[in-house]
Amino acid sequence: MRRFVMTVAVLILACSSASGQAERESLAQTPPMGWNSWNKFACNVSEDLIKSVADALAANGMKDAGYQYVVIDDCWQVKRDDQGNIVADAQRFPSGIKGVADYVHSKGLKFGIYSDAGAKTCAGRPGSQGHEFQDAIQYAKWGVDYLKYDWCSTGTRNAQEAYETMNNALLATGRPIVFSICEWGTAKPWLWAKGIGNLWRTTGDITDKWSSKRKWDDGTCCENGMLEIVDQQVGLDSFAGPGHWNDPDMMEVGNGGMTTPEYRAHFSLWAMLAAPLISGNDVRSMSPETKEILENKEVIAVDQDPLGREGRRVSKQGELEVWARPLKDGGRAVILFNRGTVAANISVAWEQLGYPDHLSAEVRDMWEHKDLGSFKGNYQANVGPHSVVMVKILP
Ligand code: GLA
Repeated sequence: MRRFVMTVAVLILACSSASGQAERESLAQTPPMGWNSWNKFACNVSEDLIKSVADALAANGMKDAGYQYVVIDDCWQVKRDDQGNIVADAQRFPSGIKGVADYVHSKGLKFGIYSDAGAKTCAGRPGSQGHEFQDAIQYAKWGVDYLKYDWCSTGTRNAQEAYETMNNALLATGRPIVFSICEWGTAKPWLWAKGIGNLWRTTGDITDKWSSKRKWDDGTCCENGMLEIVDQQVGLDSFAGPGHWNDPDMMEVGNGGMTTPEYRAHFSLWAMLAAPLISGNDVRSMSPETKEILENKEVIAVDQDPLGREGRRVSKQGELEVWARPLKDGGRAVILFNRGTVAANISVAWEQLGYPDHLSAEVRDMWEHKDLGSFKGNYQANVGPHSVVMVKILP
């Protein structure tokens, strides 16, 4: 009898964790798209900012292009009340978080918020450690659709346990809340976070630079430029899929630290990596070049391809690389990537894409928005310095 009861208990536990995993994985079937305050505004967040960003996204083509989640990052929270409830900055958010969430929803967008698995967030605000279920219930009441959950002040805490606890708290609310794990890749979340989070950061923070090898002031390594982030994605492609994505961090497109071709490369590579497309610029005042990049629907379609297979680097010769991603229609998205400072010819052979050499395939340029014709065996293009040529190849 005792053994029977134990078997039943084990089965119930196994089933509930399997159904929790399925529930988690049912969200973010394609990489989440949206906007987050941190890269441009850091701690300078307010109700006015979030509302005006929601207005802009709804009006400037971003929402139509697929950007959906409006996420307030760190610094919205100031303390806990006597009951331990998290309290928003009343001066900066006079309508409260619920008021802001309602406003974002009224624009046909979704609303996201930020917390941390430690006692304090990275900006020193109260974190969620020990308050996970209380916070999750609060978020659900406010109408939160997305939680970014950071990793500062966690001491010796085990990452998998910490993220599982918050995931369980979110699932227990019954509200579908996308869960964004921001653990910087330290404990290799790609090995354990499928079924716990919908996306996981794979690296430290991005900076708005093409490349950077600068060490931090305390001597630890290192500031990540866009290239350094990309290099850290090599080998991770097999871990991503619908409901569970590698996150190479939010985008810097439009923040001013890179040239237009460099930002085009950044955006193309994020689509290749099936990365969450979270814009991090001031979307209320975008240049035409920035808007053209962020709203390139052909490149977005690659990111959002329903097959959900992340692309990978298929060749590297010095500064010249080829990246490829299989698509649901049997085609391939291909990036000819010139990291160097002089223009160069880069070619991709069909055999690198898993196609036979004798095959003829149509090639389309996704930045020029032009069909280039039919090619057999390979395709070659001249690629400018710090630039990409991105094509779709369809047999
Ligand atoms: C960490 C995260 C960033 C941002 C800040 C906020 O550095 O990695 O993305 O959320 O904290 O303090």
